[in-house]
Amino acid sequence: MRKLSSKDFVTILDLTAEDLAAVLQTAREQKPLARQKGLAHSHAGRVLACIFHKPSLRTRVSFEVAMTQLGGSSLYITDKEIGLGTRESVDDVARVLERMVDGIMIRTFAHASVEKLAAAARRIPVINGLTDLHHPCQVLADVFTIQEQLGGIEGRRVAYIGDGNNMAHSWIDAAARFPFSLVVCSPQGYTPSQQVIERAQRGGRLDLTVLHDPHAAVAGAHVIYTDVWASMGQEDEAAARARAFAGYQVNADLLRRAQRDAIVLHCLPAHRGLEITDEVMDGPQSRVFDQSENRLHVQRAILAHLLP
Ligand code: CP
Ligand code: NVA
Repeated sequence: MRKLSSKDFVTILDLTAEDLAAVLQTAREQKPLARQKGLAHSHAGRVLACIFHKPSLRTRVSFEVAMTQLGGSSLYITDKEIGLGTRESVDDVARVLERMVDGIMIRTFAHASVEKLAAAARRIPVINGLTDLHHPCQVLADVFTIQEQLGGIEGRRVAYIGDGNNMAHSWIDAAARFPFSLVVCSPQGYTPSQQVIERAQRGGRLDLTVLHDPHAAVAGAHVIYTDVWASMGQEDEAAARARAFAGYQVNADLLRRAQRDAIVLHCLPAHRGLEITDEVMDGPQSRVFDQSENRLHVQRAILAHLLP
């Protein structure tokens, strides 16, 4: 298994294009074996600590199942147990965990907490399972889905319609590592972070357009991507956001304006009837459930490359 250039996977930019290609190649090779229950237990005895400060279906289940498939095991830890930074400092938590487990996956609010944990846990990998700023595991799995569904991502146009949030940010990072065109289309006031864009621009070639008009954004798009308008932790803003994003729904009319065979992706969970209609989500161009299955295959590959 190719050694990666980073100990951790906190953002897509942590890994080089070669690292990312190697992870995706492992996912491609192992997916059929995993489906046939024929995967070797390459990581027997390894333990992954999974820390969750926000709810999860896909991330939790896929990391836990992936560890089982690799022959290892996982721990589900919420903030009730460890009180990261309150009951105990982030540094001390890291120094204890690195003596007991082989890796940490963390989903939390502040991105800086994950950076701090990764820096403090010097001996073991730290994987970002979503912060307010990034969701790298999701986007790497999405690149895999596009490769699988469209035969490659090179030269494709991905239109991200919605909030300039963690998903949009990881897509911007991905555009600095993979050769495709990214259009991010958000209402005024909800555009992606300029800091994230500038960091990605320093990280590689970046073919990014930020627009406010969804019709212009999907013209020529091979992939239409959307996400919730109010992310975890923004529940209080849901009504105001529903008003701000009203013209940004991925519906049949919008889909007709993209490439004829465009596919539709959504990281899920979806708020059906808001950012996406039932008709599109359950329609022939939707690949959202293939996409969610791929979380398992890509995360298992990330673990296989990063764990000792
Ligand atoms: N897409 C995603 O990360 O799903 P969960 O929040 O259910 O883990
Ligand atoms: N932007 C969403 C992604 C969920 C996977 C959130 O942070 O809630």
